[in-house]
Amino acid sequence: MSSLPQILRAKLAATPSGRLPFAQVMELALYHPEHGYYGAGPRKIGRQGDFFTSVSVGPLFGKLLAMRALQEWRDLGEPADFTIIEQGAHDGQLAEDVMDALGGTGIRYLIVEPNARYREAQARRLEGRPVHWVESLADLKTSPAHAFFLCNELPDAFPVHLVRWNGERWEELFVESDGAEAFRFIPGDCSCGNLEAEVKHLPHDLATGHVLEINLAMLAWIRDLAHSAFRGAIFIADYGLDAEEFHADARAEGTIRRYHQHQMDGQVLAGLGECDLTTHINFTRLIEEALRHGLAQREYDLQGRVLGRMATSWIQSLEGSQPDAATMRQFQSLTHPALMGRSFRCVILEKPPGR
Ligand SMILES: C[S@@+](CC[C@H](N)C(=O)[O-])C[C@H]1O[C@@H](n2cnc3c(N)ncnc32)[C@H](O)[C@@H]1O
Repeated sequence: MSSLPQILRAKLAATPSGRLPFAQVMELALYHPEHGYYGAGPRKIGRQGDFFTSVSVGPLFGKLLAMRALQEWRDLGEPADFTIIEQGAHDGQLAEDVMDALGGTGIRYLIVEPNARYREAQARRLEGRPVHWVESLADLKTSPAHAFFLCNELPDAFPVHLVRWNGERWEELFVESDGAEAFRFIPGDCSCGNLEAEVKHLPHDLATGHVLEINLAMLAWIRDLAHSAFRGAIFIADYGLDAEEFHADARAEGTIRRYHQHQMDGQVLAGLGECDLTTHINFTRLIEEALRHGLAQREYDLQGRVLGRMATSWIQSLEGSQPDAATMRQFQSLTHPALMGRSFRCVILEKPPGR
């Protein structure tokens, strides 16, 4: 097997219906261990990669998060086992930035990383620092007892199901071979009960053909996080929308996009394995599920505003001196509404101890 499209064609041929839910195709395209966009190892993010993230802007994002984590540590009474937990750590850049900003505080850093290639890349970058790894959130069921969990652009990379309003009901979009070299979408009944349960709550007054993404993986993830042992806070930064905003006519094609060399389009079945596939996350649904599982909302706002508030203690710590020009540019990129300040949003959730 030499390419992801060939692997997908073989999978489709081996499936009695000849089709697969889009979520399985996205899983393969992103996480196949040899040919997946992410599965094969951490690719470059930033100017030389396919897209920018708040981490690739520079170390200021990590610095602000480090200061927020320190505040959490103090608010919890400075517990000795306090740990910063990161998931979606990619090549370890954010972990490095946070630990550089923490200096010699001795606060531990734990990375949740299922992929061994990523763990190796992270370990190389973070050699000599107090970092540990676990493979999944299931490993956080008994410890640590106190933590600040953070992630940047994680749930937007989870595989999603696609559903389409046909004028009478919501149908799932499956993927099949077009008989030649390409793939196409075909509608059908929902492939699982969890998807059916989500679809029941969707509106019926949208234009025929309106597409929505259903991120079941994100819902399972926030539930797992809610049931982990630690007490503290959860910080989630990502691009996304409130539920209502997904229903605008201008978003009738959904928000799933592919990224390649800083170009973005909706041809999500083309270039499988070579392009990033990503969706806006539904913050309303994320927060609703979080609250249902015992978490409490502390903040939910545009990234520009949340980081602006976090920056107050950083600016105070400068005691009247000016940040250098590069740091000011990073602050602008992260917070200006025309740059990352409005398209990205942050949620901070209160995490009670696990039951
Ligand atoms: C869009 S990238 C963001 C990388 C980095 N956080 C940043 O902001 O530059 C998404 C990352 O999430 C990782 N990822 C996806 N699912 C994951 C999971 N279940 N556990 C840990 N990492 C995951 C991918 O491997 C990828 O590195």
